[in-house]
Amino acid sequence: MQTHDLEKNFQQKIDAEVKIEPKDWMPDAYRKNLIRQISQHAHSEVVGMLPEGNWITRAPSLRRKLILMAKVQDEAGHGLYLYSAAETLGAGRDDLVMDLLNGKAKYSSIFNYPTLTWADIGAIGWLVDGAAIMNQVMLTRTSYGPYARAMVRICKEESFHQRQGYEIMLTLAKGSPEQKAMAQDALDRWWWPSLMMFGPHDSESTHSEQSMKWKIKRKSNDELRQAFVDATVPQAELIGLKVPDPDLKWNEKRGHYDFGEINWNEFWNVVKGRGPCNKQRLDARRNAWENGAWVREAAMAYAEKKAARRMKQAGEEAA
Ligand code: 3HC
Repeated sequence: MQTHDLEKNFQQKIDAEVKIEPKDWMPDAYRKNLIRQISQHAHSEVVGMLPEGNWITRAPSLRRKLILMAKVQDEAGHGLYLYSAAETLGAGRDDLVMDLLNGKAKYSSIFNYPTLTWADIGAIGWLVDGAAIMNQVMLTRTSYGPYARAMVRICKEESFHQRQGYEIMLTLAKGSPEQKAMAQDALDRWWWPSLMMFGPHDSESTHSEQSMKWKIKRKSNDELRQAFVDATVPQAELIGLKVPDPDLKWNEKRGHYDFGEINWNEFWNVVKGRGPCNKQRLDARRNAWENGAWVREAAMAYAEKKAARRMKQAGEEAA
């Protein structure tokens, strides 16, 4: 069949809401776009463990420590699902990790910011996982089967992440004046970077138009950002915190909040690798990669030995 016909059939499947599976024919550009997005999503999950992991030994109670440990472990699992989903497209895990370590591949801008106080752990759960849920619930309907299915499991865990973060902020906001001030300071520092997680304006987005046509994306960057603001502002008000945006105002006519402009210089600076913690994050990932080499070698040696044993057994049975 001619490529033109293959592409036509492919788009008809997308339009008919038929999931694309690993063995199906797909345009190279579809495959490439998915490897790009899924691998960067996976990198974000694994790098995202670093700012939170930084507070496991300093959690204010055993209960908070247990919850934070569970969350950080969940993020590792999310990274695993997503690297596995990318591998179904023919990408090699080691290559994907090398792209991150060599600065070729991105991870979410949000993980470039430092976690300065315990309230940051609350703000990350509440805002960062809250923003991730907005985006990831949409991705449970993405056209590529393995990615959509990975999202279903991930979203279930994200809602626990968001709730525990909001509970931390609620506890602090209802606590002493110093605790409330710590929560407000965290909201002040994490609000705008959380809005940046949704990416550039639709008009500046490189991939959105094609990603929407292929139903990789179901909602645009700006749509998801607006949904996040509309959902989160009332949560801040409920616990007596103030969103750091003088232009934030409910617009009855639109049925949405109007809000100020993101600092796009800061966004692109961070995205291009000049974020406040980028060197620290990539150094940590490089160390983990080097220190974990023996684990990969042992796992490969075990798998090869097991395969050889199976081959020998099969030979003996056939004889
Ligand atoms: N951080 C870093 N890079 C970003 C970015 C951000 N917040 N937003 C956009 N970019 C990059 C894009 O990757 C693209 O660069 P590339 O071509 O080199 O990949 C460029 O900026 C242009 O942006 P586009 O809007 O054209 O890119 P996309 O169509 O890919 O949209 C996205 C960006 C909405 C982040 C999309 O990639 C997406 O939905 N990704 C999956 C979700 C994801 O990665 N979330 C990250 C957070 S994961 C997380 O929070 C874990 C939670 O458990 C805490």
